[in-house]
Amino acid sequence: MANITSILNQQYFSHADLIILLKTEGADQKQIFEKAAEIKKTEVGNKVYFRGLIEYSNICSKDCFYCGVRKSNSNIQRYQVNDEEVIQAAQFAYDQNFASIVIQSGERSDKTFVKKIENLIREIKKIGNGALGITLSCGEQSKETYKHWFDAGVHRYLLRIETSNEDLYQKIHPQNNKHNFNKRIQSLYHLKETGFQVGTGVMIGLPFQTLDDLANDLLFFKKLDIDMAGMGPYIEHKQTPLYQYSDTLLPLKERFQLSLKIVALLRILMKGINIAATTAMQTIDPEGREKALLTGANVIMPNLTPLKYREDYLLYEDKPCIDEEADACKNCLEARIHRTGNEIGYNEWGDSLHFKKKRVPIK
Ligand code: 5AD
Ligand code: FES
Repeated sequence: MANITSILNQQYFSHADLIILLKTEGADQKQIFEKAAEIKKTEVGNKVYFRGLIEYSNICSKDCFYCGVRKSNSNIQRYQVNDEEVIQAAQFAYDQNFASIVIQSGERSDKTFVKKIENLIREIKKIGNGALGITLSCGEQSKETYKHWFDAGVHRYLLRIETSNEDLYQKIHPQNNKHNFNKRIQSLYHLKETGFQVGTGVMIGLPFQTLDDLANDLLFFKKLDIDMAGMGPYIEHKQTPLYQYSDTLLPLKERFQLSLKIVALLRILMKGINIAATTAMQTIDPEGREKALLTGANVIMPNLTPLKYREDYLLYEDKPCIDEEADACKNCLEARIHRTGNEIGYNEWGDSLHFKKKRVPIK
């Protein structure tokens, strides 16, 4: 049996190493968590950065087989947060010293949408004279669109690859040009070339997914040299086609544990990146985000979406915090984070150190 301690002390990890680490349980698994916590502390510090999340619209042109807001789901009411509400939410983030926001939306690439986002960014940038850092998560767009948004003031972008296995990607998406694996990869490269800090991620515990896939996902992140990651367990949604495979899935507790392990392994593999403790983690375990903070994550996205829209942004079932006002969320989060021994990086953008290191100016 390979010695976990010696693998963990390596500088580089092969696919075979990762499989061994992914299979650990009990005391061996605990060693991984401890190593990740230690690396987090020395590399990025025990600080958590807030990104106020605005779920801007559930109008989506895509039909991903796992997603509750997919185009073909006629059971939900479609919405788009109005401009005033977006600015109010951003102002709230600024007033609360969050320093950054994320605008996430169903995917649209029509001109009206692209222009609308650009205008909103410019308005948000006026708050406190550019004080708020902005992350966008608005899907695949043309390189020109990415450039427009970057020039308007966005500096981070999240686009999950969902899985780095092309065959699995095809199983969980419709087979058409709108859901093309290579186009998605290409978008990630366009984002990098544009100058964004780029984040990606996968769902963990998808139907048909294997440990082999997850080890490859970790190596994919490394190869792409990502700056940020947002990952979480796959959670089934009744109104989606993948629901039919629910009885093939890992039990929820194991799916959660595996997700934690992947967060920890990514921290060990990519020491200076930002890793989000995602809402999907909290959906399975009420203390899920705190556990992720203890095993390597350093970013949390408190939900600032106006309450009236939240029940229509259910990407998966049992999503938490859909009936808590932003204020309540903040107080509850503060207490939870302090209990993990982390500080909150108020008034700091908390940019990816990994990104900063890559771009040391040449004198
Ligand atoms: N379970 C977990 N995560 C999901 N997402 C979409 N549907 C699900 C689901 N059923 C995630 C995807 C997407 C992000 C916005 O939400 O990874 O990129
Ligand atoms: Fe693709 Fe929601 S339809 S993630």
